Amino acid sequence: MCGIVGYIGKKNSLPIIIEGLRRLEYRGYDSAGVSIINDKAKVLNYKKVGRVGEMNDNIDKDIFQGSIGIGHTRWATHGVPNDVNAHPHFDMDDNVVIVHNGIIENYKQIKTKLLAEGFQFSSDTDTEVLANLINYYFRQTNDFEKSVRLALNEVEGTYGLACLCAKEPDKVIVARNGSPLLLGVGIEETIVSSDASAVINHTKNVVYLEDGDMAILTKNGFKMKTIHDVKIYREAHKIDFLLEDIEKSGYDHFMLKEICEQPDTIQNTYRGRINFDSGIAKLGGLDSVFDKMLNAKRFIITACGTAWHAGLVGEYMIEQFCRIPVEVEYASEFRYRRPIIDEDDVVILISQSGETADTLAALREAKKFGATTIGIVNVIGSTIAREVDAGTYVHAGPEIGVASTKAFTSQVMSLALITMMIAAEKNTISKESLIEIATELRNIPGKIKKMIDAKEDYKKVADAFKNANNVLYLGRGFNFPVALEGALKLKEISYIHAEGYPAAEMKHGPIALIDENMPVVFIAPQDRTYDKIISNIEEVKARKGRIIALASDDDDNINSYADYVLRVPKTLALFAPILNVIPLQFLSYYVAASRGCDVDQPRNLAKSVTVE
Ligand code: M6R
Repeated sequence: MCGIVGYIGKKNSLPIIIEGLRRLEYRGYDSAGVSIINDKAKVLNYKKVGRVGEMNDNIDKDIFQGSIGIGHTRWATHGVPNDVNAHPHFDMDDNVVIVHNGIIENYKQIKTKLLAEGFQFSSDTDTEVLANLINYYFRQTNDFEKSVRLALNEVEGTYGLACLCAKEPDKVIVARNGSPLLLGVGIEETIVSSDASAVINHTKNVVYLEDGDMAILTKNGFKMKTIHDVKIYREAHKIDFLLEDIEKSGYDHFMLKEICEQPDTIQNTYRGRINFDSGIAKLGGLDSVFDKMLNAKRFIITACGTAWHAGLVGEYMIEQFCRIPVEVEYASEFRYRRPIIDEDDVVILISQSGETADTLAALREAKKFGATTIGIVNVIGSTIAREVDAGTYVHAGPEIGVASTKAFTSQVMSLALITMMIAAEKNTISKESLIEIATELRNIPGKIKKMIDAKEDYKKVADAFKNANNVLYLGRGFNFPVALEGALKLKEISYIHAEGYPAAEMKHGPIALIDENMPVVFIAPQDRTYDKIISNIEEVKARKGRIIALASDDDDNINSYADYVLRVPKTLALFAPILNVIPLQFLSYYVAASRGCDVDQPRNLAKSVTVE
């Protein structure tokens, strides 16, 4: 989390840094700051609690002029959000200035050592300790690059960082270990950033830093080394999205834009990957491990948050259609609980950002035991995408809203394609069923579009329970993970407490919560679970709960049971999660918007959780 932007070149750096930080605010937004080196080689600093927009309004642009600078938008890890803990941080001599994303785990030991040497600190942060450690070495070596290197060899933990040195004011030094960082390579300028969205307005050429890399940036370009002083070369890549993909384009919020993009994003996920005549799917990125997948003893799917919910849908799909055992694990648990894994396991990592710390650690754990690792990732070139044995990009395009929407439906679509690919090869599905699935797959974008056109209907239902304190979401089979996802969407952006449950589990506890104030959202497609769901609805009705039912277009029967009905086009079970989640996304969006919540940047959250 946290966003970093740095600039070195010929232009005035402040507007470039502020524009970049605005694009990175989804990574954290509790405080913001910049340090600029002016043409008299003086370092100017500004940092305050609040958003980048407030910094832009308050900073004196006549004074903060200079063509070298670094900036930061923070998501607090060490120390509460306040002006002192905001970045950049400085050492006690005001020589080294640093912005940092990540956690220095051994900062307390280093602080103790530096305190004994007479160093003083003004904040609670691990980053200030790092600034002082670099300066501790600078006092001995009088060499900025060497000092950064010595310090980084001493710290344990994660960092993406950019730093300046008042005594060597002609350079920016950046380094990465565990927190993403890239260089945007322009004409006579280099921009460093946590992700490509902050540089795309200036250049499409980027170089990704790997763990253990440093780059020394000057006005003449940059050189790269490892933190062990070995020269390295990293290939340049082209950014694959457009500026308009990361702008609101007339929508009130990114989340609304991203919900409405789903007819296109879902097509981008399957385009060119399925033969509609035979129903055979092919994901080229998985070619090299396809035999391993076919012969896998089991699949382990691991992820966090919304991506974990997609994984749960994957479990239902793969077990039902491919007859391969699947386990779904929270990445944060998987990495620490000494899981039993071997070479016959295939571990699937699902991540929108491709940078989630827990998912990345789970990947490394799985590799350690020789499992085959597969990524289902959205962000191209991200760490997980680069470290897996093989993978498939979901091609949902940049997702800026903190609440994940289009990435979820594309993750589920990717899992459906994987399911079809394996089932066809293993003959665990008939040719007719495959063709039926492929035919329906083609209808999915149109069906999503139909729901988007009906969004005002969903808004009316949202108005009816925007003041609720608790909401229960219930679903069965493929739709149980959708219930979990609906609940997560609501709580993260509207701060209403919500829980998802398998509908039949309600009787085993949550039914005690039901009274006339409790809205219950039932996902009630007309499949083989329908009658059971109706029984569950009756149980809630008998206790005066308010029923919101997600039901098929032509289900008139539901009207006599539900207080509100959200209509969803009929589809096959495999695609039901993709369609059923759309009204739930709208519901959360409209509830949050009408409560005046900050939909795209909900409190305490960040888009990409790159710390444990
Ligand atoms: O980038 P990832 O998919 O790895 O992120 C995983 C979760 O942090 C993410 O899905 C989170 O739960 C979202 N805020 C949900 O909307």
